[in-house]
Amino acid sequence: MRNVTPDTLTTAVQDTFKCENPRVALLVAKLIEAVHAYAIDVKLTHAEWREAIGFLTRAGDISDEERNEFVLLSDVLGLSSLVDMINSPLGATESSVLGPFHILGAPPLAVGGDLIGDNPGDHIVVYGQVRNLQGQALEGAKLEIWQTAENGLYSNQDQKQSEFNLRCQQVAGVDGRFAFTTVRPAPYMVPSDGPVGDLLRAGGRHPWRPSHLHFIVMAEGYRTLVTELFPEDDAYLDADAVFGVRESLVLNYKRHDTTADLPVDVEAKDRLKTPYFSVQFDFTLAPD
Ligand code: BEZ
Ligand code: FE
Repeated sequence: MRNVTPDTLTTAVQDTFKCENPRVALLVAKLIEAVHAYAIDVKLTHAEWREAIGFLTRAGDISDEERNEFVLLSDVLGLSSLVDMINSPLGATESSVLGPFHILGAPPLAVGGDLIGDNPGDHIVVYGQVRNLQGQALEGAKLEIWQTAENGLYSNQDQKQSEFNLRCQQVAGVDGRFAFTTVRPAPYMVPSDGPVGDLLRAGGRHPWRPSHLHFIVMAEGYRTLVTELFPEDDAYLDADAVFGVRESLVLNYKRHDTTADLPVDVEAKDRLKTPYFSVQFDFTLAPD
C-alpha cells in the first residue's frame, strides 16, 4: 500500500476492512467513499479539518446521559428526518423525530383521563383510535405521550414542573380508542448552548420548533411508531429547526365555545375552560 494517491486511497482504505457482516461491510465502504469524495469535492484544508474535529470533540464533551449533541446534530442536518422518511412503511402513520425530552416511567392515564392538572394554558381534548393497515382497531395498544407546558419547557427542563408533568402512558380501550385532556403545548427552541447552536448561528438559522404533541405508539406484532402532531396555525410549521413536520401530521385544533358538544367523554369535562379545542387523530400501525 505504498504510494497511495487521492485516486487510489479510497479503495486502499476500503480494502483494509474485512467485515464479516455484509451490511456492516456496505455501510463502512460507502461511508469511506462519501467522506473521501466530500474532502476532495470541497478541497478540505487542514484548518477546516481541525475545526471539524474540534466541533465533534465539543459535541462529545457536552453530551451525557441526558443530552446527546450528536443526535441534535443529526436532527438539525435533516438526517434524523431522512432516516424516518426512508423507513416509513406505506399506509402507516408517518414517523417524526423522538427528540431528547422523552423519559421512561411516565404514570398510566386511563382513557379520557386528565393531564391539565394545574397547568396554565388553553385546554385541549385529544382523541382518536389506533388501527392497523387493514383498519382493524388495536385495543390494548400502548401510547406514550409527552409535551411542553405553556412556557415551552418540558418537565425535565424546568425545576418548577413535577417530574412527570404533561406526560403519561395510556392503553387504548375498546375500538383502539384513546383520549385525554391537556393544555396546548407551545413552540420552543432546541438546545442551542452547545456546538450545534454555534452551527445554527453560523448558518443564520433559528432554533425554533413548532408546538407539538409527542407520541410513541406500540402494539404487539406491530412496528413501534414514534411521531408528533402539530397544530395547523403554528407560526413555525414551515420553519421547523429539525424538519419534523409532515403534512399528514398537521391538524386542525377545532374551537368549541361550550362543553355541551364534547366529542368524547373525558374525566375533566366539568373543569374544562372554554373556549377549548379538540384534536382528533387516528394512528395506523404497520406490521413488524
Ligand atoms: C423535540 O421535539 O423535543 C426535539 C426534537 C429534536 C431536537 C430537539 C428537540
Ligand atoms: Fe418536542
